[in-house]
Order: sequence, then structure tokens, then C-alpha cells
Amino acid sequence: MSIIPNFVVFEGGDGSGTSTQMEILRRRFTASPPAPKGKPRCKLHSTVEPTDGPVGKLIRQALGGKLPLQPETLARLFSADRQEHLYGPGGIAEHCAQGELVVCDRYVLSSLVYQGITCKEDLPMLLNRDFPGPGLLFFFDLDPDIAVKRLENRPEKEIFEYRDFQVQVRLLYRELLPWYAGEGVRTVSIDASQSPEKVAADVWRELEKMPILKGEI
Ligand code: TYD
Repeated sequence: MSIIPNFVVFEGGDGSGTSTQMEILRRRFTASPPAPKGKPRCKLHSTVEPTDGPVGKLIRQALGGKLPLQPETLARLFSADRQEHLYGPGGIAEHCAQGELVVCDRYVLSSLVYQGITCKEDLPMLLNRDFPGPGLLFFFDLDPDIAVKRLENRPEKEIFEYRDFQVQVRLLYRELLPWYAGEGVRTVSIDASQSPEKVAADVWRELEKMPILKGEI
């Protein structure tokens, strides 16, 4: 698997706090962008999957239960959305090539886990095997009982947001993380039951070790 060193991914079950962490990271970069020694300030490009492009919009409809789709169709949509997200104009590859720190809320591992449950693992692996891996991946690990409590506060429920599914999600993430690490992706598990500030501190401690933030690339 090819790896993009300045590409970071946040992963976890629903309600594990990936979007909250992205918001905290964005604020940190706005307030005081890191300036590695002898290098210009590091720029952050934060992004999310599913995207808000045409395929991503279709996926959102399916997630909201408004568009019933075969699980295999949804798996194909996620990988089509990812293809555009990576290689389309203004996409991940472009931002990475410009030397920015690119952080994405969900990526290939979400497909291997979620679609691995709904379609069995062969199809998601087949659809995602050619995508490059991130240099660093955070897994926000959270007890599904806590996750489900957090999700209760959201106005609309999505198709994967129920306890039994989230139990399987957590198990499969834990099973696939070592495989992904074996492919050369540095994976870091974070206890997502901590306060958002504590989680953010754990994330930052790891991010700071990245060559791009140390001025090495
Ligand atoms: P999520 O980040 O949880 O969105 P929201 O902020 O609306 O809660 O992601 C949407 C859902 O899509 C989540 O349940 C995980 C799922 N998903 C997949 O099933 N496969 C994928 O490849 C991706 C990227 C997401």
C-alpha cells in the first residue's frame, strides 16, 4: 500500500467524537498555526467523508433512510465518492502535494468496517485496495453504550446508529487496525470516553511527532 505521509485520518464508531476533534484541531490551527523550525507555517486542510459532492449527497440520503439501497450499492458509492475526494479538483492528493497537513474525518477503514459488516469483507476490500493509506490514523475507541447515549441527543438518526451495529463496528475496527498498521499506516488508539479536551491533547501529542510538523518534509 502506498502511504501519503502528510495525510491523517480520524476513525471510530458513530458518536466517537471525530467531528468534535476536527473542530478543535481547526481552531488550534487558526489560533496559532504551527511553524516548524526554518519552514513556513503549516497549513491545515480538513475534510470529511462522505463528501458534500454529488455522490456524497446521494450517500447522505441513503444514510438518512430516505433512499433505500442495496448494501453493495452503498459500498460502491462510498468508494466512488472517495475516488473523487482523493483525485478530483481541490481533492486530498492536490492538498497533500502542496505540502499541507490534510486531515480527513473517515476514510478507507470506515468502508472496510461498516460495509464489511453489511456486505461481508471481500467487496469493500476489492473496492478500496488501490487507495493510498494515511501516514497516521487515529482510532477513537468508545464503548457503544456511551456512544449510543451521545447519539440520542442528535435530531436525526442514521441507518447505522443503533447499539448492536455499533458493537460490531467496534469489534471490526479493533480487528482491522493491526492489519492496517502492518500495511505501513501508523495507527493510534485513543480513549474517546475522556473529555474532548483530553482527547484533543492526546491527538496533538501524536500529531506533533509527524515529519511535516517537525519541519522534516
Ligand atoms: P459520520 O461521520 O458519523 O456522519 P454524521 O456526522 O452525520 O454522524 O459518518 C456518516 C456515516 O457513514 C457513519 O455511520 C459511517 C458511515 N460510513 C460508511 O459506512 N462507510 C464509509 O466509507 C464512510 C466514509 C462512512
